[in-house]
Order: sequence, then structure tokens, then C-alpha cells
Amino acid sequence: MNSVPQHIAIIMDGNGRWARAQGKPRSYGHLKGAENIRNIAIKANELGVKVLTLYAFSTENWKRPAEEVSYLMNLPKVFVDSYLEELMANDIRVEMIGRREGLPRETVRILDRAINRTKDNKAMTLVFAVNYGGRSEIVDGINEYVAQLKDSDHKITEEEFGRYLYTRDYPELELLIRTSLDYRISNFLLWQLSYAEMYFTETHWPEFSPEELESIIKDFMKRNRRFGGLQ
Ligand code: IPE
Ligand code: IPE
Ligand code: MG
Repeated sequence: MNSVPQHIAIIMDGNGRWARAQGKPRSYGHLKGAENIRNIAIKANELGVKVLTLYAFSTENWKRPAEEVSYLMNLPKVFVDSYLEELMANDIRVEMIGRREGLPRETVRILDRAINRTKDNKAMTLVFAVNYGGRSEIVDGINEYVAQLKDSDHKITEEEFGRYLYTRDYPELELLIRTSLDYRISNFLLWQLSYAEMYFTETHWPEFSPEELESIIKDFMKRNRRFGGLQ
């Protein structure tokens, strides 16, 4: 039996499909999706998860219509205005990973407000992946490594390289959940997924419930994780 996963990542997909099924615009799905983050974060914290990393906006999502992009860029404000105090009450810390360059200044300001306000919280860390790409994370890590190399002929190890990634402060990723039943990674946490268990559910993100999270975690705990060894 595995323990509760220390670090869970979720690809929050299907906002648009969910909205269409309700006969509503895509933005309605994004709004309901953002609101649902609150329910899932509180449940994950309650279950003892230490880090919950949520894919909110990928480096490829800039390809969407400008109107949708700008709606998405305003959602951190909606989320923070509605739930920051509740996150404080639940001792949840907020952080972000991804490239800050390229994000609207106002989006960064709001995220920073939440990050600073919650920085001493100790229960769970809620990480928003915004303007995040797995490949850009690896390339940024390589560039940071090269910049401090000077003339050394040191060969970097996997463990050392992990310290150049955005996730350097977090425990190993153990479980990935993707909602809305597309079987792909979409450039999320390429390095960290190495030995994560994966779970794909057909539920669209706005309807993904705390009960479903709990049942996925129970399933995770029963899985036989071999890490290349024998059991
Ligand atoms: C996920 O929902 C949210 C983001 C990618 C920002 P989608 O907007 O991708 O919803 P679908 O996949 O079109 O249903
Ligand atoms: C992945 O979903 C990105 C986020 C959830 C933020 P997408 O909807 O962008 O992924 P694709 O385009 O279906 O691969
Ligand atoms: Mg999608």
C-alpha cells in the first residue's frame, strides 16, 4: 500500500467541452473551472497532499483567440479575490511555475499578491503552472546551469539537474490526473512525470469533484509501483 501522494499534478482539461454541453460560451466553463480549484485544493489539503500543481495555462495556449486568452489571464484575479482568505484559513501556500515574461503585468501582480500573502503557510502548496511548458522548463534549466559553469568539466547528474527545474523545491511527482479523457501530456512536467502514476478520467474539469479526487488517491495507494525493480 502506498501512502497518500505527496505531490499531485492535474491537467485541468475540458472547460470548453463542458460549457458547450451546457449550451454556454467557453468562458463560462473557464469560470466554473477556476471556481472548482477551490474545492479540489481544500480536499487535497485535507487528505494530506503536500503539493498540488495545476496546469492553468500552457506555453501553447497563446494560440487561442485573443479574447479567450485575455479571459483566462483575468481568472487569477477572480480566484484570488474570491478565495485568498479561505486559503489563508486552510494554511495553503500559493506558488507559480512557468515563464513570467510574456504574462500581462496585472496577472503577475495578482499572482504575486497571493504568493506573498500565503508564503508562511505550511500545510499544502498550491502551485499554478501559468505560461508553463515542459520543454521551456528544461531549456531554462539548461541555460541556468550553463550560465554558472565557467570552465568546469563537471558532468551534471539527474539529481543535480532537478535542482535547475522550476519544481526544485517540491517532492517527486507521484500522481498525474488529466480530466476530459485526452490521453496526452500536452507539454506538462515532462521531466517530473518519469515515474508518476497516471490517471485519465472522462469527467470535465468543472465537474471534477472532491469525491473523485479521493477515489483516485485510493486507487493510487493500491497500485504496485516498481520503479524498474521487481516486486
Ligand atoms: C482547459 O480547458 C483550460 C485551459 C487549457 C486553459 P479547455 O479550454 O482546453 O477545454 P476543452 O479542452 O476545449 O474542452
Ligand atoms: C492542456 O490542455 C493545458 C492546460 C490544461 C492548461 P489543452 O487543452 O491546451 O491541451 P491540448 O491542446 O488538448 O493538447
Ligand atoms: Mg483542452
